[in-house]
Amino acid sequence: MTGSIVLFGPPGAGKGTQASIIVDLTGKPQISTGDMLRSSVSKGTELGLEAKTYMESGKLVPDQVIIGLIEQRLEQSDASGGVLFDGFPRTIPQAEALEKITNVSAVISIEVPDDDIVSRIVGRRMDPETGEIFHVSFKPAPTEIQGRLIQRKDDTEETVRNRLAAYHEQTKPLGDWYGERGLLIPVDGSGTIEEVGKSVEAAVKSL
Ligand code: AP5
Repeated sequence: MTGSIVLFGPPGAGKGTQASIIVDLTGKPQISTGDMLRSSVSKGTELGLEAKTYMESGKLVPDQVIIGLIEQRLEQSDASGGVLFDGFPRTIPQAEALEKITNVSAVISIEVPDDDIVSRIVGRRMDPETGEIFHVSFKPAPTEIQGRLIQRKDDTEETVRNRLAAYHEQTKPLGDWYGERGLLIPVDGSGTIEEVGKSVEAAVKSL
């Protein structure tokens, strides 16, 4: 399939968790704006310094910063056959800018009620060596690596509320925007990681 796929959904819906299924099935590289921004923050670049305050308070980073980041990333040769966007676009202006530089073939929307989001995010842990995402209850890490797991700075209950508010105000309307264009494929994200994975797999195979 030519064109790019967008993985869409609220914070903590399971986009990062399910992305590898889509990468394995399509061979498209995953582009996560959240990961790109966190890398800039940890390197202390100018962009990272600008993004840090927004991210730590749970607000969206300004569109122009994100669009510039994506434009640069899409110039790399591995992006020529389409990519998997994870966490981008998140606003209608971002989607409009994307339309001008690449073709989006499908938007897989992982739908999870707000009540489930807080516990998913507050319990999330990451292995800094492999990047694998775990959860203290829903996907516990093996005992031998538990000591090295880290928690994201924005994974607090207070910040999650701000991230959810930003999602409802600025990102959710984009789901309708893609729906009007016939690109939105809703997936029930409220089951277990394995159940959601099967639905994501079926959605990709239907393309
Ligand atoms: P970003 O890193 O994109 O964060 P997010 O969208 O808030 O998404 P998350 O990474 O938190 O969640 P996810 O859906 O990947 O869930 P995961 O698979 O980890 O963005 C961070 C910040 O950067 C933003 O707040 C913003 O400031 C900025 N930013 C990024 N992109 C931007 C953009 N385009 N425009 C403007 N600003 C931008 O799963 C979460 C947890 O739940 C894990 O512990 C996992 O194990 C568990 N889990 C997953 N699925 C299940 C399941 N089915 N059942 C139980 N537990 C589950």
